[in-house]
Amino acid sequence: MERTPVWIMRQAGRYLPEYRAVRKNHSFSEMYKRPDLATEVTLQPIDILGVDAAILFSDILVVPEAMGMELHFSEGKGPQFPSPLRDEAALKALRPVDSNQDLGFVMEAIREIRRSLADRVPLIGFAGAPWTLATYMIEGGGSKTFQHAKKWRFARPDLLRILVEKIADVVIDYCRAQMDAGAQAIQIFDSWAGILDTDGFEEFALAPVRRIISEIKRPGIPVIYFPKGGMTWLDRVADCGADVIGVDWTIPLDAARRITGDRVALQGNMDPTALYAPPEAIRDQVRSVLASYGKGHGHIGNLGHGMLPDIPVEHTRAYVDAMKEFSPAWK
Ligand code: CP3
Repeated sequence: MERTPVWIMRQAGRYLPEYRAVRKNHSFSEMYKRPDLATEVTLQPIDILGVDAAILFSDILVVPEAMGMELHFSEGKGPQFPSPLRDEAALKALRPVDSNQDLGFVMEAIREIRRSLADRVPLIGFAGAPWTLATYMIEGGGSKTFQHAKKWRFARPDLLRILVEKIADVVIDYCRAQMDAGAQAIQIFDSWAGILDTDGFEEFALAPVRRIISEIKRPGIPVIYFPKGGMTWLDRVADCGADVIGVDWTIPLDAARRITGDRVALQGNMDPTALYAPPEAIRDQVRSVLASYGKGHGHIGNLGHGMLPDIPVEHTRAYVDAMKEFSPAWK
């Protein structure tokens, strides 16, 4: 491609009136469990924004749900596990998962999305990284301090080790099933990598991700690893086996490129809140992101994290259009 490809994390979501129109009549869990609805909202941003890839509409938390943890998405509160995983008995009670069976609705959605896309753009599948899934399972939801998850990291590393390995086993099976169903790339979201200490990141985040990638790698299917908040560890992250590393906005792309060299492609990294600025300022931000990456291939345009629900669609479109307009000069 003679320009930088671009897609957006959470490109199917509440900032789109068309998404809200579907969401008005269905709960979030109904939407990801019904392949027809998941297909409909996955496709919406392709035409509305003109992005270069579709990302499966689902959620990373379907994995712990399949492992036996009751999950609620309550209005305004985000995801919640009413019985968080806090002791060894709860750890032992986790179930092994057969993704084609227990998460069959995801595979069916992937097949339906691929049929509807008819190769217009590739479809990205995804999974949560073991550490990030573990934080939600142990905390029972989002958290400001992550004290329960971090307590396990230092007080019960033996249990945390077993937990991340159990999750990694499921994620491997889940990613393979997604690829069998038709996913053309896989992104591994490690949204809470940045709350770990350096040794903790190596042992509980990066090591299981390295194992996952080595076991799911297939020719022609790129794997993207996004360790949000983990940019100080980019050097070793670049050797995890991923083809692409997602970069958040805490490091300029030129620095990220210097550190990673030609080991991996880089995806990112405009701050999503920059999309609150007026379109002319968004165009300036895009120019500066492209200039920061510099000449050559190996850059995928994206934000440094997901879209926020109150960002105007027009601003989002200005971002995608600017990436298309300005990036050919950098090839
Ligand atoms: O990117 C996409 O367009 C694909 C869909 C997608 C969703 N969640 C849809 C969603 C993806 C890739 C995710 C991943 C996900 N889910 C992550 C990793 C990425 C990240 O943002 O760090 C995490 C941490 C979750 C867990 C999760 N799910 C949270 C914290 C929330 C609540 C936050 C919020 O915005 O309300 C969700 C719910 C969720 N997942 C929504 C969507 C569109 C909003 C649901 C609604 O319509 O009410």
